[in-house]
Amino acid sequence: MKDPAQAEGEEETLDPRDWDRVRELGHRMLDDMVEYLRTVRDRPVWKPIPEEIASSFHEELPRGATDLGDVYRDFSRRILPYPTGNIHPRFWGWVMGNGTVTGMFAEMLAAGMNLNQGGGAQSGGLVEAQVIDWCKAMVAFPSGGSGILVSGGSMANLVGLTVARNAHAGFDVRAEGVAASPAPLRVYASAEVHSSVQKAVELLGLGKNALRLIPVSAGFTIDLEALRRTIREDRLKGCRPLCVVGCAGTVNTGACDPLDELADLCKAEGIWFHVDGAFGALAALAPGLRGLVKGMERADSLAFDLHKWMYLPYEVGCTLVRDPAAHRGAFALTPDYLEHTTRGIGGSDLWFSDYGIQLSRGFRALKVWMSIKEQGIDKFARMIRQNAGQAKYLEQLVRARPELELLAPVPLNIVCFRYRGGVLGKKPLDELNKELLLRLHESGVAAPSYTLIADSYALRVCITNHRTRREDLELFVAEVIRLGARLEKETARAGAAAAAGGRA
Ligand SMILES: Cc1ncc(COP(=O)(O)O)c(C=O)c1O
Repeated sequence: MKDPAQAEGEEETLDPRDWDRVRELGHRMLDDMVEYLRTVRDRPVWKPIPEEIASSFHEELPRGATDLGDVYRDFSRRILPYPTGNIHPRFWGWVMGNGTVTGMFAEMLAAGMNLNQGGGAQSGGLVEAQVIDWCKAMVAFPSGGSGILVSGGSMANLVGLTVARNAHAGFDVRAEGVAASPAPLRVYASAEVHSSVQKAVELLGLGKNALRLIPVSAGFTIDLEALRRTIREDRLKGCRPLCVVGCAGTVNTGACDPLDELADLCKAEGIWFHVDGAFGALAALAPGLRGLVKGMERADSLAFDLHKWMYLPYEVGCTLVRDPAAHRGAFALTPDYLEHTTRGIGGSDLWFSDYGIQLSRGFRALKVWMSIKEQGIDKFARMIRQNAGQAKYLEQLVRARPELELLAPVPLNIVCFRYRGGVLGKKPLDELNKELLLRLHESGVAAPSYTLIADSYALRVCITNHRTRREDLELFVAEVIRLGARLEKETARAGAAAAAGGRA
């Protein structure tokens, strides 16, 4: 049990014995990671994890020490080479951010300070309050609103919908629990809403059937007439409409609901208006895109991410709430041992634990603060505009090739399309495009993801990537066409062989 390097009776610490050596190793790690980011374009987007590496993560719990240099070598060999690839210029899957060099430095500085951002008299609280004010300015949210940084969009939606439930349920949910609700509570969103909203509705004890999914129009935005009708019918059935969730950028196609109209409807009906703007909210930064999310600033609560279209390292999202008293009312809980004093370390009115679920919280505000100061928000606005312009460029490339077919409009930064070549029939087209996606991933050339558009399998390119260049999109399209043509031939050969086999 005893550390052999420890003198008899000496107390232990986790600090290094040899600070000079650890400093040298730390500098090497920093140099290596800066180089890793500098050269990201030279590597494949993704490569599969070899079986011998995957199966090596079943080690016994290490009881004794390993030299940090050896641990770092192990990290370099078994961990660093096998990410999903989301920092690469040709990664466009799901809605993933890439991180930045400054973000990496900020994470290190924050970990070094190791602030607990639950609350208290410390600089970190001031930084977070400052960042929240900046977030409000970025999305034109009322300056009197409150806010909190959270782990991401899912948590931001959960926080917003918790405030909605507690403020609008019509009874004291915190005291009585949802089971005491005199009327079934209902939440409304388009059928394209992100799954995190359903998760939040389930976690809030409303049950997934409380989420009424409203059909979408041709542009994948909510059908307002269907929404009005559903609310009317629900009221007649004795339900209580609690909240409408508007989408500022749907995950499938980037569609933005008519947010002004939703705000009007919610005001007229006395319903809470929440907006999920996980990535789309930041379109408000770019003058040419701002109109798409107009009305978002009228939301009672707004959820968005900074680790998506602000490119910051995971994790960081934000919830803004128009009415700070409603926000605090949903979460504040102050036992004796957390008393907020007027002097000493507890002497602060910045207790973020009163505005969210977590008590202990990391200093994620620092990477936002440093990045916005370093780059200026205009740079982020230009990057967002650049990505939207790249999506339009990809749309043109797709439209220009008869082998390809665009499957949805491109309002923001997402392009859904498929290889069609001369292949006929839904099933063979779906199968070909599924295989095409996997081969693309395995080739390491590019990493889109997929979705279903009107029940058809679509290759889905979501550009929240500050490293992407137009030439990357050209390379990608050429590769899709090459792989598609090859797969078409393989399918024809297999069909011919099967037919010959059948005849024999
Ligand atoms: C529209 C939308 N909402 C919510 C989320 C969830 O965000 P997070 O992954 O940060 O939890 C996503 C994730 O892609 C999203 O696209």
